[in-house]
Amino acid sequence: MDQEIVLRAAKLREEINYHNYRYHTLDSPVISDAQFDALVDELRALEAAYPELITPDSPTQRVGGAPAEGFAKVEHPAPILSLDKASSRAELFAWHTRISKLLPEDAPPLAYTVEPKFDGLTVVLHYRQGQLVLGATRGDGLVGEDITANLRTVKTLPLRIPADPDGPQPPPYLVVRGEVLILLKDFDALNARLIEAGESPFANPRNAAAGSLRQLDPAITAQRPLHLYAYSIVTADGPVPATQQETLAYLRALGFAQPSEMAYFADLDAVADYCEQMIARRNTLPFEADGLVVKIDDLATQAALGVVGGRPRGAVAYKFPAQEATTTLRDVEFSVGRTGVITPTALLDPVLIAGVTVSRASLHNFDFIAERDIRIGDRVLVKRAGDVIPYVEGPVVDVRDGSQRLIEPPTTCPACGDPVVHPEGEIAYYCVNAACPAQLVQKLTYFTHVLDIEGLGERTAVQLVEQRLIQDPADLYFLTKESLLTLEGFADKKADNLLAAIAQAKDRPFDRVLAALGIRGVGVTVAQVLAEAFPTLDALAAAPAEVIASVEGIGPITAQNILTWFAHVHNRAMVEKLRQAGLKLAAERKAGVAGEQPLAGLTFVITGTLSRPRDDVKAWIEALGGKVAGSVSQKTSYLVVGADPGGSKYNRAQALNTPLLTEEQLYALAGSHP
Ligand code: IVH
Repeated sequence: MDQEIVLRAAKLREEINYHNYRYHTLDSPVISDAQFDALVDELRALEAAYPELITPDSPTQRVGGAPAEGFAKVEHPAPILSLDKASSRAELFAWHTRISKLLPEDAPPLAYTVEPKFDGLTVVLHYRQGQLVLGATRGDGLVGEDITANLRTVKTLPLRIPADPDGPQPPPYLVVRGEVLILLKDFDALNARLIEAGESPFANPRNAAAGSLRQLDPAITAQRPLHLYAYSIVTADGPVPATQQETLAYLRALGFAQPSEMAYFADLDAVADYCEQMIARRNTLPFEADGLVVKIDDLATQAALGVVGGRPRGAVAYKFPAQEATTTLRDVEFSVGRTGVITPTALLDPVLIAGVTVSRASLHNFDFIAERDIRIGDRVLVKRAGDVIPYVEGPVVDVRDGSQRLIEPPTTCPACGDPVVHPEGEIAYYCVNAACPAQLVQKLTYFTHVLDIEGLGERTAVQLVEQRLIQDPADLYFLTKESLLTLEGFADKKADNLLAAIAQAKDRPFDRVLAALGIRGVGVTVAQVLAEAFPTLDALAAAPAEVIASVEGIGPITAQNILTWFAHVHNRAMVEKLRQAGLKLAAERKAGVAGEQPLAGLTFVITGTLSRPRDDVKAWIEALGGKVAGSVSQKTSYLVVGADPGGSKYNRAQALNTPLLTEEQLYALAGSHP
């Protein structure tokens, strides 16, 4: 291979890693997103053409490799210790008194660092010659699990150190300890996305981080907003800093992220004051912390103090007071979501938790209830973290008096009474009645939310469903003023306004309409991706699952959900009603006159044998405004795949994530055939 290409790839990797670090870790990018994307595109294209150029530290490898069968065990180079705790100022001073007795009389005065005690997952990262070679979970402190493929997807985790070429050179072998977590702002967005896609949200950021990191499929991990903070060096085969404060600065210089809350004090009173201040402002931290870690700054002193019961004497966790309380679980309410998932919610005796009265709390799902053995009548521990919905952590089994009752999943839908279905391999229980009124209310409010139709809240939705004015969201377009006037609270003006708002929403772009259909897994973001790959709803409806799943960002489950959705006659009828009402079921073309030149602006490449002569198809595409090229490149809009396709075009399309079309889909896209 040309030496120039090898050098170019190396240069691109270095630049991309550096700009990634500027963007994600330092929050201070020096190039635009478009410039960044151009670098990544160039590297991807090179690696697609010359797969032997792919290195483990290549930024393209952050997307997640092949799913694992399980995780291999990894022995840690030194025990990954846990911490002793203090829960008050007095206990902090007691710790100090204990350790002072063990130090020589003439020892220099102690200094301390105070760090947040991140509530995430401990990870151990091995770097050889500056390259990340292994990343493991803590496990039992001696042996963890190899989760390297998943960790590579964490954007604030440097794949190579120093991340900034001007940074210090690390020793040939360096093992760093840190914590992987999800920032609160990202957690809210992640849950919003999951709810929108009809999936269950996570109870708290820690669970979300844990679930994401231990995914067997790194591609899923890659979609989760994981974040790494590093705070110590486990081992190194060269010189490293002698104090904790310098270690933090050194790790920062190597390219690891650290929060601004890392503090240093030469006096224990100042440490205690700082801890108390931090307790008061814990809810302003951008991540979840369950306390602070106070460490003796001098690492030789820390080491000399030794370890008792797996806990080093030279550091202590100053725990935040718990944001939790116990109360009685009186009953469980079942509600039916838009996709038919039945969700249990605990109804509690009201209890005050960190200033907020809590009377309802999440029970997540029925697996969780069974695992924790939560029963009606139980005394339960309820937690509240940040702004997250309070959730039941588990029962206090000791105080059971025999009156407690098991919580069984409902066998019939609480709204429509139809039998509940529990598909094999799934956690959720579903009401699968397409006409279930509770689902319909949720579908309707979701539809109006996504299409931005004002004036139709849940109360109106309930009435529309109860009065049987609506069988599916598309019926909104056939509502009359007379029928609206029969609803409670509807007078002339209100009815007119609602009808106007409904009519106005006919203008919403295709991707919004697609999202509004409420297909499981197809929220606003996924719909945008789909609308780019399939410019008409008919093209999507006609696509085989493999073709849908070949679109970047779309997994096989979502692809299957799309197929299943279109297989239902009710859903197809709804699509026809929307079409009749004049909603946009096709993307607006950037160039060309729609209708006459439906393929304007699109470039096609054809592989394999089509049912008509290739030249005819080519002429026909060109007549409709499209172009036909001989090989797949970044500019290719679609690869049209006929029978017995050639490998090279297909492989290149895969590498570039070029959307694929069957011959039939091409005709569906054009709305005609040669
Ligand atoms: S230092 C010898 N520092 O809290 C050093 N641990 O019970 C011992 N943790 O899971 C740990 N933030 O991984 C240290 N700033 C921090 C930490 C931290 C979170 C975790 C730690 C372990 C637990 C300790």
